[in-house]
Amino acid sequence: MSEETRLIRAGATSGDLVKTVGPPIQRGSTVLLPCAEALYDDDAYLTYGRAGLAAHDALKAALGEMERAAGVNLYPSGLAALTGAMLAVLKAGDEVLVVDNIYKPTRRFCDQVLARYGVAVRYFDPRQSPEDLVGSATAATRLIVMESPGSLTFELQDLAAIARLAKARGILTLADNTWGAGYLFKPLTQGIDISVQALTKYVGGHSDVFMGSAAASDLALVRQLEDGVHNLGWAVAAEDAYQMLRGLRTLPTRLKRQGEAGLKIAAWLREQPEVAQVIHPALPGAADYDLWARDYSGACGLFGFVLRPGSEACANAFLNALDLFGLGFSWGGFESLAILCDPQLGKRKFVPDLAGPLMRLHVGLENEDDLIADLRGGLDAYARATA
Ligand SMILES: Cc1ncc(COP(=O)(O)O)c(C=O)c1O
Repeated sequence: MSEETRLIRAGATSGDLVKTVGPPIQRGSTVLLPCAEALYDDDAYLTYGRAGLAAHDALKAALGEMERAAGVNLYPSGLAALTGAMLAVLKAGDEVLVVDNIYKPTRRFCDQVLARYGVAVRYFDPRQSPEDLVGSATAATRLIVMESPGSLTFELQDLAAIARLAKARGILTLADNTWGAGYLFKPLTQGIDISVQALTKYVGGHSDVFMGSAAASDLALVRQLEDGVHNLGWAVAAEDAYQMLRGLRTLPTRLKRQGEAGLKIAAWLREQPEVAQVIHPALPGAADYDLWARDYSGACGLFGFVLRPGSEACANAFLNALDLFGLGFSWGGFESLAILCDPQLGKRKFVPDLAGPLMRLHVGLENEDDLIADLRGGLDAYARATA
C-alpha cells in the first residue's frame, strides 16, 4: 500500500474499549457497518452518527430512568426540545392551548412559527381550573402546553388533573418541567404525555452546555418525537452529551443544597421591610404550597420576589448593588443570578397584581449567609433610591 493509503487505514477504532465510569465519547458522522446487508437494515443497525452514539445513548438511558420514560429524545437546546416536540405532534388546522406564563421564547415560537403554519394558538390563565381549561377545548384542540411553576410568576398548575381530563378528550399534554429538572417532579408519572426540560439548566448545572430533552411513556409517541428530530436534522455533540451525563450524577446533591438555600433566603426576604411579597411555591403559606407539597419532592433554587413600589431606576439600584448575584438571564448553574422581570411581562394576558418591581433570583452553591448579606446590601440601595 502507498503511504497515503496506509495513513488513512492506520490507527482504526478498536472494537474492545476498556470500561471507564463514563461512556466513551465517540465522535462520528460515519458509522462503519459489518456487512452489505446491514447497510439498509435500520431496524438492526445504527447507520449514521446523527442519531447519536455511545454517550448519547448513555444520557438518554439515564434520563429515561429519572423521568420514568419509555424513551427520551435529545435536542440542541431546551427551546429546541419545546419547539421540536410541538412540531412533531401538531399539524395545520390544530389548536394548541398554551399557559400564559410560558417561557417567552416558547411564546414567540407559537406566535411567529406555529401561527404561520396554520396552528391556532390560545393562551390560558395559569389560575384557570383544570375543568374550565379542558372544557374550553374545541374539536381542533390537539395539545395543551404547560409550564409549572411558570416562568417569572411561578404559578403551579394541577398537571395530574389536566392530564386526566385531557386524556379523556383525546388531547395530548406537554409540560416544560425545567424547574423540577425531571427529579423533583416527574410529569409522566402524573399522566402528562410529553415531559420536556432544558437540560441547559440544572442537569448541566455549570452554565456551559446547551441541550434539551423530551421524554414520553408511550413508545409510539417516543417514535413520533424521534421522527421529528430526524426530520428537522438536529444533532447534539457527543462531548455535550457526556457533559450532561456528568452533570446528572450530581443533580440530586446540587438540587438539595440549592433548594434548601433558596428557601432559607426566601423566608429571610419575606421579613425584610423593602419586600412586598415573595413568590416561591415551596414556602409555607404560599398560594401554591399545597399543590407543591403534593407533587414535588423538593424545590430548586429559582424564585421571585416583589419589592415595595419603586421605579425601574430604583430596581436597577438594587441589582447594581449586588456583588455575589450576577446579572444574567439563565439559571440552574452553580452560580447565583438576579434579574428584573417587569420588561418581560408585557405580552402576557394574565399577570397577577404586583405591588412593585418583580425580581427573579437564582440561588447557586455559594454560602447562603453570604448571599443574604449581599441581598441586604441591595435592599439598602433600594431603600436609599426610593426614599
Ligand atoms: C422554563 C424554560 N424553558 C426552556 C428554556 C430554554 O432553554 P435553552 O436555553 O436551553 O434553550 C428556558 C431558558 O431559560 C427556560 O427558563
